[in-house]
Amino acid sequence: MPGRVAGKVAFITGAARSQGRSHAIRLAQEGADIIAVDIAAPVESVTAYPGATEEDLAETVKQVEALDRRIVAHKADVRNPQALKEALDDGVAQLGKLDIVCANAGIYQVHPALELDDPGWQEMIDINLTGVWNTVKVALPHLVANQGGSIVLTGSVAGLKGLANSVHYNAAKHGVVGIMRVLAQELAPYMIRVNSVHPTTVNTPMIMSDAFMHAVRPDLENPTPQDMGEAFIGLNCLPIPWVEPIDISNAVLWLASDEARYVTGATLPVDAGAAVKA
Ligand SMILES: NC(=O)c1ccc[n+]([C@@H]2O[C@H](COP(=O)([O-])OP(=O)(O)OC[C@H]3O[C@@H](n4cnc5c(N)ncnc54)[C@H](O)[C@@H]3O)[C@@H](O)[C@H]2O)c1
Repeated sequence: MPGRVAGKVAFITGAARSQGRSHAIRLAQEGADIIAVDIAAPVESVTAYPGATEEDLAETVKQVEALDRRIVAHKADVRNPQALKEALDDGVAQLGKLDIVCANAGIYQVHPALELDDPGWQEMIDINLTGVWNTVKVALPHLVANQGGSIVLTGSVAGLKGLANSVHYNAAKHGVVGIMRVLAQELAPYMIRVNSVHPTTVNTPMIMSDAFMHAVRPDLENPTPQDMGEAFIGLNCLPIPWVEPIDISNAVLWLASDEARYVTGATLPVDAGAAVKA
């Protein structure tokens, strides 16, 4: 039985773990081959949680291959357009073409504005905003050559409304929406669709850290994930603390598939209603 993205090739950044790995597996389950990149190393300004590793990226490769799909994986930093280009060009050379782009790589760090230093601001913008642009830019020649495709940018509910204590993250994620809205117009003549997905908190290492639990629950000496979850429920309309990576992957899959063939320029929340919550 053909899958929903059978025969397509997807380029995914931040594919070593969490949402990026989940996107790779979900798209592979539905018949896509994968070009995966990840920095697979710590990032200087992120102190709250550990970076992904080369072993993580190797595990993504293993799980995609277990589905009998092909995957080309490279260690590459989205801040480095040349490294991204080389990784993607190699993937396209091996897999034949490019149909889908998932600009998913990103970082997060709680920083009240009064404590945010210049390097912290700059690294966030370089990865979460410029990194998204770099990803799209290196992919465009391949998508044009393919006479169409689907680009899915990973935003956040913090790209749709202001969430306190991470002005740099909010600025980058609002910027991602700007990239999406302009490219949806400019790339439409090439049958390239551009959309963004906007998760509420997702159950990944990005939020599941002691540092973040303390930031969210400063009232407790030793907060647990459950304590943090109680606070997060207040962010959402649906009474849940967070969503799982698969929830984002299912939205990405739909936007990447021909089921969404006339959907472009959309900000798709997967946020339990957080964006509309007063
Ligand atoms: N977890 C959440 O609560 C949440 C909520 C909304 C949006 N998001 C967004 O979802 C995306 C994925 O985050 P996640 O939750 O899977 O977190 P994660 O930290 O588990 O995964 C992020 C991946 O991106 C990679 N990465 C980071 N910087 C990179 C760089 N410079 N170059 C290449 N790869 C890099 C990391 O190595 C890691 O594998 C991010 O864009 C994040 O901002 C996350």
